[in-house]
This record gives sequence, C-alpha cells and structure tokens, in this order.
Amino acid sequence: APRARMVVANWKMFGNLALCRESLPRLAAAAMESVELVVCPPAPYLGEVGRLASSSGVHYGAQDVAEVTHGARTGEWSADMLAELGCRYAIVGHSERRDRHRECNQTVAVKAAMCIAAGVIPIVCVGETMSDRESGQTEVVLAEQLKAILQLMKKNAMFVLAYEPVWAIGTGLAATPEMAQDVHAFLRRQLALFSSAWAESVTILYGGSVKADNAASLFAMPDIDGGLVGGASLNVNDLLSIYKAAH
Ligand code: G3H
Repeated sequence: APRARMVVANWKMFGNLALCRESLPRLAAAAMESVELVVCPPAPYLGEVGRLASSSGVHYGAQDVAEVTHGARTGEWSADMLAELGCRYAIVGHSERRDRHRECNQTVAVKAAMCIAAGVIPIVCVGETMSDRESGQTEVVLAEQLKAILQLMKKNAMFVLAYEPVWAIGTGLAATPEMAQDVHAFLRRQLALFSSAWAESVTILYGGSVKADNAASLFAMPDIDGGLVGGASLNVNDLLSIYKAAH
C-alpha cells in the first residue's frame, strides 16, 4: 500500500473553544480518505475536539506525552489517557519541547515507545538548527536524533516522522522544496538501513512555515508526504488550502 499522506495542524498554545467549534465542522466536511487531516489542539481541548470530530474523517492528537505510564507527575498525561480519549496521534520531540523543556533524544525515543505501546501513533519531530546547518552538521544531527528513536522502536511499528528545520519554524522562511526533499530522502535512507520496505512505508512530513502559497510545491516532492503546520493551521481557510494542496 502506498504510504499515508497527511496534514497535521499543531495549534501549539493558541486557540480556544470557539476555534474548536468553528473549525472542526468545516474540517469534518472537507476531510477525505485520500489524505489524513489531523488536529492537535492544546490538551485541555482534546475532549471537545474529540466530540466534534467523532464519526467524521478528522483525526486528532496531543502535542506531547509523558515518558512514563503513570505516576506523581503534576501537569503531565500518559499515552493511555490519550488512547482513551480517541487520539490517533501524539506529537513527540517538537523542537519547542526539546528546547524549552530540555528533552533529549533518549527522552523523545521513550515517549515514542510509550505511544506505540498504548496504540497511539507518534509523530516524531527532528530538525537541525541554523548553526548546525551552517557548520555542515545537518545530517549528523538528524542521524543522531533518528538513531535514538529507531533503537527503541520495533521494525514495522506505525510511526510518522516530521522534519522541522528549527530555523524555519514560525519564521516565515520555509525550506525550499529542493532543500526539504534532500533531507527527506536522507531520512528515508537512514530508515532503510533497518528495512527498505519499512522505510518506503513511513510517512515523512515537512514542517516550518508551511503556508497556503508554498504547500503545493513542498508536497509535490517525492519524499514529502504532507505537512506539520503551526501558525497557518489557526486559520481554517488557510488550513483547508494546505490540506487541498496535499492531494
Ligand atoms: O509544528 C509545527 C511547526 O513547528 C511549524 O510551525 O508552521 O508556525 O512554522 P509554523
């Protein structure tokens, strides 16, 4: 089967109940089987998004998950809790978590494994900083980020990879389609070291200043299977344009 294409809206810490109630019915009306549409709202809205998305084609997920199954962890939630709420996905290892919460590759890998054990598909984010890129370290950094994840994950586990160059996030400076394609092809070659059939089946999303006007050229590249969209996902019209560009 060809690998899944998808557009994932990461609302980050934006939005409110009104945005949930305005956007979900419109997204539900537009969602088609050919490309998955996924909304990752702030965790307090997951229940409402789940109710609004129910029996529609829209999937939803969390922006993070704890690295343990349960415990005295104020302010955290487990992968089982997400599964219970009907989350199909959880983003793990977003650069904002790696940076602000000091999440290392090992932590990200454990979080991804927690998701898989609970039946939640992890959307694992990797990406280099501008200084990594300028010093020629992009592939080294990405291989290191990926290695920690692959060591913990069984072959054939369902997992989505998101390439998000840190310098492109929220800056309006998206990677060019060619630049992103080069990295996506590199990531797929790294996956193929474990299993080439598996590598072909893994969805690899691009994230970093995806907008309505650059989405189509990014998504046209052979190894770019969709997008992880921040800022533009808060505007329903923009998100729907980006979603259409993935077809
Ligand atoms: O998760 C989404 C990414 O961090 C991209 O954010 O589209 O606002 O650049 P952005």
